[in-house]
Amino acid sequence: MQITLESKPYAALQTDALVSYLFEESDPVQGRIAEIDQAANGLLRKLSKSGELTGKTLEMTLIHSPDGLKAARLLLVGAGKREQFNRATLRKIAGAALRYVKARSVKNFVFLVRENDATDESAQVAAEGALAADFETDKYKTDKKNDKSIDSVSLAGYSDAARAAGEKGLARGRIIADAQNFTRDLVNEPSNKLTPRILAEKAEAMAREAGLSVDILDEKRIAELKMGALLSVAQGSVEPPRVMVVTYTPANPKPGAPVIGLVGKAVTFDTGGISIKPAEGMEKMKYDMAGGATMLGVMRALAALKPSVKVICVVPSTENMPGGKAQKPGDIQTAMSGKTIEVLNTDAEGRLILADGVHYAKQLGATHLVDAATLTGAIVVALANVNVGVFGSDQAWTDKLLASAKAAGEKMWQMPMDDEYREFIKGSFADIQNIGSGKGGGAITGAMFIKEFTGDSPWIHLDIAGTAWNDEAKPWLAKGPTGVALRTLVHLVMSR
Ligand code: BES
Ligand code: ZN
Ligand code: ZN
Repeated sequence: MQITLESKPYAALQTDALVSYLFEESDPVQGRIAEIDQAANGLLRKLSKSGELTGKTLEMTLIHSPDGLKAARLLLVGAGKREQFNRATLRKIAGAALRYVKARSVKNFVFLVRENDATDESAQVAAEGALAADFETDKYKTDKKNDKSIDSVSLAGYSDAARAAGEKGLARGRIIADAQNFTRDLVNEPSNKLTPRILAEKAEAMAREAGLSVDILDEKRIAELKMGALLSVAQGSVEPPRVMVVTYTPANPKPGAPVIGLVGKAVTFDTGGISIKPAEGMEKMKYDMAGGATMLGVMRALAALKPSVKVICVVPSTENMPGGKAQKPGDIQTAMSGKTIEVLNTDAEGRLILADGVHYAKQLGATHLVDAATLTGAIVVALANVNVGVFGSDQAWTDKLLASAKAAGEKMWQMPMDDEYREFIKGSFADIQNIGSGKGGGAITGAMFIKEFTGDSPWIHLDIAGTAWNDEAKPWLAKGPTGVALRTLVHLVMSR
């Protein structure tokens, strides 16, 4: 799908649909919407008076062959209350509009930003929203007869003076949305088509194409490095594990500057291992590599956006299977750091592979860590599919991430990390155990476990188990992988 800036006056544009948005207020027909209304002989005001055009959030009003416009259709999208309108709303509006017209076989449309919105940020979020909305999860359906697709979108409403800003925002939005869709495409892959080895091949190809340096550790090097926690999970599978290391180095690295370490859980399928999961819903566990896919997507975007800070991405990947060689509850493993772990539940495998992942990222020189993982069902209980769970060992670093989440329009909620929770994972027969002995607090226990391997480096853990997958389609996003946290992390790195 193409997306470009359009400088011709919108009324003269020949397009399948002209799309704009209006606010929920006593008179929603104002500014550019009033101009369109005038050209259309007062039709919009009439609709508003009759209560059919209210501006309520994501209300869709479609008018065919509108008077005064060259467009075949006019679509007006409700933007909700003007006071609450922000970039996140605009992103959703652009996405919902795309999916609405796409479902009606429209091939191209013009998205007209309102009179106050001709900024680079608006262009960025409109592009992000439209491109993410265009992503479908029907890759493996063979009957494409009734497939619909959008060929091109143009963004209108930018004066000559605002044009350069618009172009800049559009380019940034394209980079970020393409990266997010790259992540979603990986997460969508079933586990027979995405083993750790295949994921590593894809990561390597992405890194080479993007101009990032890449190192893929195979099972031999993983063993040489004594990544015992990762290996303990991998030993139950015939598929060997991999660790992907993708590095971005800025053109003029400053000595002594912080180095950001991004670590992502990539369990390509989580059966639970010997502590096996129930059959119902197990198919969803193909998305247990979403944290790793997110970090790879972040790297892809950073390669194009070129931040001034060095970033090291470490993605440990394995299957979690109940094979004849699988680890068993009670087994004691030695992590790369030397800490011993009593594995009381083989289904708490994400924290095991992250233990070695964060330790290795530190060894490679990362000073500030962020990990992302579909770590616990408990975070779904706590925050449902609305907020990402945020855990941090350093409030200043965590505050930066929360600010980036706000700016990127992703909902995240900080969870507690009090010392009392440390008691939950104290080991009886080893240094620590991989599940809590206390009652409840399952998402926190998981985070506490990872923290054991971060030393005194500022570290953030993002539990995306509830948010990385949409069980239902949203008006602005297909059902399935969301690519959550990518935009926040790109923003976090870019604002360093
Ligand atoms: N991959 C799961 C987490 C998960 C569960 C994600 C449900 C999405 C939905 C993780 O490896 C896991 O199984 N965690 C266990 C931990 C428990 C054994 C302490 C869980 O949450 O049940
Ligand atoms: Zn598990
Ligand atoms: Zn898992």
